[in-house]
Amino acid sequence: MIDASAQLPAGLELPAFTVVEAEVRIQPGLKIGPFCHLQRGAQVGADVEIGSHVVIGEGAVLEDGVRLGSHTVIHPHTRVGAGSLVGDHTILGKLPSTASTSTLKAAGELPPLIMGPGCTVGALAVIYAGTVLAEEVFVADLASIRERCRLDRRVIVGRGVTVENDVTIGEATKLQAEVYITAFNYLARTEERFKHRKGCVLRSGCRIGGAAVLLPGVEVGEEAVVGAGSVVTRAVPPMKVAYGVPARVVRPTPPEQLLSAQKKS
Ligand SMILES: CC(C)(COP(=O)(O)OP(=O)(O)OC[C@H]1O[C@@H](n2cnc3c(N)ncnc32)[C@H](O)[C@@H]1OP(=O)(O)O)[C@@H](O)C(=O)NCCC(=O)NCCS
Repeated sequence: MIDASAQLPAGLELPAFTVVEAEVRIQPGLKIGPFCHLQRGAQVGADVEIGSHVVIGEGAVLEDGVRLGSHTVIHPHTRVGAGSLVGDHTILGKLPSTASTSTLKAAGELPPLIMGPGCTVGALAVIYAGTVLAEEVFVADLASIRERCRLDRRVIVGRGVTVENDVTIGEATKLQAEVYITAFNYLARTEERFKHRKGCVLRSGCRIGGAAVLLPGVEVGEEAVVGAGSVVTRAVPPMKVAYGVPARVVRPTPPEQLLSAQKKS
C-alpha cells in the first residue's frame, strides 16, 4: 500500500507488502526488503539499505547511506545520522514505560533520539528517546541505553552494557562488556533514595573494565581506568587506575596508555 502523497524516486520498485504512509519522502538508491512499514512523514535519504520487517516511525529521518538490519524498529521522530549502521532486531528511540509499583512516574515529554553520522549499533540493542549519540559512537550487541543520556564522539559501549538515565559519557570513553552504569535505580525504600537519583558522569578517555558497576552520580575522571568487576562508590580522579569492591585508587594511568600516546587514526 503506497499513499498517493508519498514522494518516491522515479523507477523505485517496492517489494511485496510494503506500506508507505502519507507524506513519506524517499530519495534515490533505496534497497528495501519485504514487509516494511514507513509511517507518516518518514524521510529516507539517498542510498539507504533497509532489511525486511522494519518499521520506520512517524517523522523519523534516515540520513544518506544509513543501513538497517531486519526487524529493526525506529520510533517516531528519531534521526539516524548519515552512514550509520544498525543491526538486526535493534530498537531506536524507544519511550520508557514504568512498572505500576515504580517510584519513577511518567517521564514526560522526551525529545527524540538523535544519532550523529557514522554510528554503529549492533543487534538486539535498545536506545531510548531523549538520548543523543554524537558522531562515530559504537554500541555493541545487546546493549541498552536509557533516556536523556549524552554519548560524545567515538564512545565505545561494549556488549550487554546497561547505561541508565541521565548519564554523560565523554569522548573516546570505552565501556567493556556487561558494565552497569546506574542512575535512578537506588534500591532503598525510604525517602533517602531521592537524594541518590543522579546520572553518572564519565569524562573523556576513561575506560571501564568488564562488569564493573558505577553507583548513582559517580564521576570517573578523564583517562581514568576502572578494573573489571569493580563497584565504584565514589569519584575516581582523572588519570588514575582504581579497582576492587569498593573501588580504590591504586596507581596513575600508565602514560603509554593515554590517548595522547596513541597513534592518530
Ligand atoms: C585493573 C587492571 C587494568 C590492571 O591493573 P594492574 O594494576 O595492572 O593489575 P595487576 O595485574 O598488576 O594486579 C595487581 C593486583 O591487583 C589485583 N587486581 C587486578 N585487577 C583487579 C580487579 N579488576 N579487581 C580486583 N583486583 C584486581 C591483582 O589480583 C593483583 O593482586 P595481588 O597483588 O594481590 O596479586 C586490570 O586488572 C583490569 O581489570 N582490566 C580490565 C579487563 C577488562 O575488562 N577487559 C575487557 C576487554 S577484553
